[in-house]
Amino acid sequence: MDPMARIEEALEAALVTAEAEGCPPTLAQALRYGVFPGGARIRPRLCLAVAWACGDDDPALADAAAASIELLHCASLIHDDLPCFDDAPIRRGKPTVHKVYGENVAVLAGDALIVLAFETLARGAAASPERLARLLPIVSGAVGSPHGIIAGQAWECEPQVELTAYHRAKTGALFAAATVAGAAAAGHDAEPWRALGERLGEAYQVADDLRDVAADAEEIGKPAGRDAELGRPSAARELGVTGAIQRFDTLVAAAVDSIPACPRANELRGLISLEGKRFLPKSLALRAA
Ligand code: IPE
Ligand code: IPE
Ligand code: MG
Ligand code: MG
Repeated sequence: MDPMARIEEALEAALVTAEAEGCPPTLAQALRYGVFPGGARIRPRLCLAVAWACGDDDPALADAAAASIELLHCASLIHDDLPCFDDAPIRRGKPTVHKVYGENVAVLAGDALIVLAFETLARGAAASPERLARLLPIVSGAVGSPHGIIAGQAWECEPQVELTAYHRAKTGALFAAATVAGAAAAGHDAEPWRALGERLGEAYQVADDLRDVAADAEEIGKPAGRDAELGRPSAARELGVTGAIQRFDTLVAAAVDSIPACPRANELRGLISLEGKRFLPKSLALRAA
């Protein structure tokens, strides 16, 4: 099955358990609204690509790992958009969860998706508990303190932030979890895959900063120009647009170089180079080329 179909199916199966009979109807609607339709689904696609490159001998577990990572990402977006963080009205081209269902339900929907992510991982690993023992710290480390998304968001609450540490925690950590978990789900030595995820995550964040200054709201499905408005550290502002594009190219090349030996290393290198090109907003992709 094609990776995108596998991801949507695994997410759908997870959502069905969360919104089953007995779930308060508004919460059930908010959960679904926060997950479907998706954005780029870049993290779960990366997870499945690495599992595939490593032989994908337990596809149900790879699907569960990919879905759990995307659920955590969706939760982080719902919380990130709340008035106490970025106060964003639009996400993925539609009103944010709190605009539709209220702040209280949005907080709970984010919380419920975090819990659902770990439940999904556990269900997918019923046949291989020893792999679950490796996957749990990989995934939870990408979300919690000291180095996960929560830490990344918490850096915004500090008076001084270092751009690299901030990007690593906010974005790099979940990308790294995607590559490391993909390898672990396929029974491979997982840690050598961390560099790929970290570099791609940093590249993706640089691209996101560029999108924020160079793309329009229609192309990115969320308001542009928010980093400057919110005073966020931004690669585009620190390095300039040209410097940020150079940094982006260096990071994608370093990501490709870091791919460890595995049955489909060559194919994966091709896939990552191609995918990297799609990160930049259209106007800048031409300039980078
Ligand atoms: C947005 O992530 C937040 C960042 C960390 C840059 P995505 O750009 O992956 O968002 P979706 O899932 O495609 O909407
Ligand atoms: C949000 O980061 C992603 C998280 C890790 C929570 P941003 O605030 O930079 O991303 P957008 O612009 O809202 O997608
Ligand atoms: Mg934010
Ligand atoms: Mg935001």
